[in-house]
Amino acid sequence: MFKSKKLLAFLLVFVLAASVIFAGCQSTKDNSSTTTSSNSSNSSSSNKSTDTTKKIKIGFSLPTMREERYQKDKAAFEEEAKKLGAEVLTQGANNDENLQNSQVENLITQGIDVLVLDPQNAESAATLVDKAHQAGIKVISYDRLILNSDPDVYISFDNEKVGELQGEYLTKLVPKGNYFVFAGAPTDNNATLFKQGAMKYIQPLADKGDIKIVFDQAIKDWDPNEALKLAENALTANKNKVDAILAPNDGTAGGIIQALAEQKLDGKVPVTGQDAELAAAKRIIAGTQSMTIFKDVRVLAKNAADIAVQLAQGKEVKDLAQVNKTVNNKKIDVPSLLLTPVVITKDNIDKELVDSGWFKKSDLYGN
Ligand code: BGC
Repeated sequence: MFKSKKLLAFLLVFVLAASVIFAGCQSTKDNSSTTTSSNSSNSSSSNKSTDTTKKIKIGFSLPTMREERYQKDKAAFEEEAKKLGAEVLTQGANNDENLQNSQVENLITQGIDVLVLDPQNAESAATLVDKAHQAGIKVISYDRLILNSDPDVYISFDNEKVGELQGEYLTKLVPKGNYFVFAGAPTDNNATLFKQGAMKYIQPLADKGDIKIVFDQAIKDWDPNEALKLAENALTANKNKVDAILAPNDGTAGGIIQALAEQKLDGKVPVTGQDAELAAAKRIIAGTQSMTIFKDVRVLAKNAADIAVQLAQGKEVKDLAQVNKTVNNKKIDVPSLLLTPVVITKDNIDKELVDSGWFKKSDLYGN
């Protein structure tokens, strides 16, 4: 009797121990598929979405932090990711493609789940997409399209439209005369699209002979100092005879307007821009720059962070609600989200840039 009780107790302990070991095996199995949720109904869908222990890590690689906008991209991206419980590693590459390569390689070794890449060089960044994919990391092409590659998603503005808005504005204001046509960095696909859009308006008038394009050049790395030098030379070469200037962004417009000021031509020759930088907004108020394009990068960055987190959680691209079109990058049709740019002039500057919280009224007008 005593012996069989002992045997029963032994068997009980054995069964208990076996079930504990079995349960342990089960949870290790879930761990390996990165599902560590304690909620058993969740754990049946074994994907990253139910991972409550491992923090999602996102690599955010920007080509530069020089233009004011990139501080806003960074702040909005990090704020949204934090809200969603993700960690962000942000890097700026100082307009140096080799630096961006090594920064991205470093992000990959740090175990990021998603790479959000704004490429310094549209073509060579394709190798970074491949490297990320080889490590099982999804890639979002951010603001600038990565060409000849397979990014999972592209999030940007309608960049051809940006150029159209610049070209339309300038040709309406100055339908005849001498034009300086500046373009952004040749390594940036956006620069190509901006120019393409603007030329839809400028070229037909040039073909008619109403507009004479007396200067037509791209600005390496979007460098404002380079823009200043090019504008100085173009003014000299044309004996200051210029009626309108297409400047691709506010940074380069700043350099060009400085060259005009040296000849006391600032405020006399219409100049375009883009990015709604504070200095440009002040120039618009002062009358030395005609317009800028407002791209609310806070919205861009927020969407990118949302999508990055969803991809990290295992969501399929086709199920992403915001991604509603495709853009061809010379290799594939990349699933895309393109936001709408807005023209800013003296007339709507307060409504668009102050009411939206982009600037404080005191930033623009002093106190
Ligand atoms: C961006 C612009 C920016 C420029 C220079 C472009 O790709 O779309 O907003 O001014 O790069 O950084």
